[in-house]
Amino acid sequence: PELFAPERPNSTGWDLGHRPTLEAIEAGRGAFHDHEWCAAPSLDKTYAADESEARTNPADPGDTVGHVRWATEEDVTEALDAARPWATEPKARGTILARVADLYETHAFELFAILHREAGKTLLDAVGEVREAVDFLRYYGANASDRGGEPGAWTCISPWNFPLAIFTGQIAAALAQGNAVLAKPAEQTPLIAARAAELMHEAGVPREALHLLPGDGKVGAALVSSGRLAGVAFTGSTETARRIRASLAETGRPGTPLVAETGGLNAMIVDSTALPEHAVRDILASAFQSAGQRCSALRCLYVQEDIAPKLLKMLKGAMDTLILGDPWRLETDSGPVIDEEARADIAAYVDKAESEGRLLHRLDAPETGTFVAPALIRVPGIEALEREVFGPVLHVATFGAEEVDKVIDRVNATGYGLTFGLHTRIDDRVQEIVDRIAVGNTYVNRNQIGAIVGSQPFGGEGLSGTGPKAGGPNYLPRFRPAPAPVEGL
Ligand code: NAD
Ligand code: ALA
Repeated sequence: PELFAPERPNSTGWDLGHRPTLEAIEAGRGAFHDHEWCAAPSLDKTYAADESEARTNPADPGDTVGHVRWATEEDVTEALDAARPWATEPKARGTILARVADLYETHAFELFAILHREAGKTLLDAVGEVREAVDFLRYYGANASDRGGEPGAWTCISPWNFPLAIFTGQIAAALAQGNAVLAKPAEQTPLIAARAAELMHEAGVPREALHLLPGDGKVGAALVSSGRLAGVAFTGSTETARRIRASLAETGRPGTPLVAETGGLNAMIVDSTALPEHAVRDILASAFQSAGQRCSALRCLYVQEDIAPKLLKMLKGAMDTLILGDPWRLETDSGPVIDEEARADIAAYVDKAESEGRLLHRLDAPETGTFVAPALIRVPGIEALEREVFGPVLHVATFGAEEVDKVIDRVNATGYGLTFGLHTRIDDRVQEIVDRIAVGNTYVNRNQIGAIVGSQPFGGEGLSGTGPKAGGPNYLPRFRPAPAPVEGL
């Protein structure tokens, strides 16, 4: 495990630093309704209208959020040809990355609006996401360095579930180390990525050091197989990470640095000494905040059998208070899932559990928009989860008083190792479990989401990622590794 003592406070306290101006707030307000954004491989070129595709709001299919012109094979080659490392002093790069953070803060309301309308983020999630992006920029900017090997062209391939924070974090790390970046955002969220890239350029990141390539997995695959990259930063599913690794090997470049942060089958143990009200609050946030669309989210809850009837009754009652709906209303707890494909997949999974008599509880979902009702499903143990179901679905198992070790073995046996939660008031048990559980981030007597840049480095083991952890001191050096020694010399 990476142990870490923060050297400096991060910006995620109450002091937001550069507060948005009144004009920015006004512009942001307008952006919640009528504004449309655009994404394209080059924002300097003009593209014909029939070349672009409309993007709509997952909570409201009638709301057009903007248009995207997808990158072609020629755009990929052009960007690879034009990419140049950011050849300036590390301190100067850090200053410009801090300026990007300032611009994100001044434009925070516009960014909230895009996150809300393109990705279905609630207010709570949108604020958390902009703050995390700002923290990444300041933290990596402050630690920019020229140590290691030569900089080169990195591709940064990001997912839709943190379309600003992860997109920004990967890019900020690669740029801080002086590399050029070919950024490939998720196909579900090109608009927030394009606005972020625009702000990066406005702050002074050179055009040749940052290229945006909106597109689907084929664009990512073309970049990876180009044989022209100094490294790959990837966050997404374990399956895609495997494909990327295989492609690097096929192209004869298996030694290309790959920083991959992937999926998880995350568990929590609640034993009979836990405070039930506290545990229920943390289970609810871990499993259902962000509509369960966090890699860190709780997927399998283990409750000690003697408290299970009471705890599950309280959990169902607490679930009934969740409000699903328009993500921008302050009362809303949970917005839509990202798109219709995700909605249909998760709903079919829950329907199957219901037909097999394993559904313990399910809420009602709004009919318009891609909403999925939070659900509780009974399982004998975590081994029954065949895959990561990326939505508001919580599996529940019970364990006996003498079975804690067995539960830890079963969790470790999944091969995933991202987050783990523990609710107990037995101090010795905390240390025993922390020592044995093979995950990147363990959370004790709290929820298991929302790691904070600079003080809680985040990342998994095994099938959940290669490390080093994002937002920690070991992350940046990986983006400029020293050349490997040549064998035999
Ligand atoms: P995904 O793997 O489908 O896509 C991620 C990115 O990879 C997208 O930009 C996609 O276009 C691109 N891609 C797809 N195929 C590719 C290929 N063959 N070559 C190169 N790029 C390709 O994942 P997703 O659905 O966007 O995101 C959800 C997944 O991400 C979940 O599994 C979640 O657990 C994981 N995730 C992990 C972390 C973490 O920090 N560990 C954080 C967020 C999300
Ligand atoms: N960093 C995000 C979290 O901790 C994924 O929830």
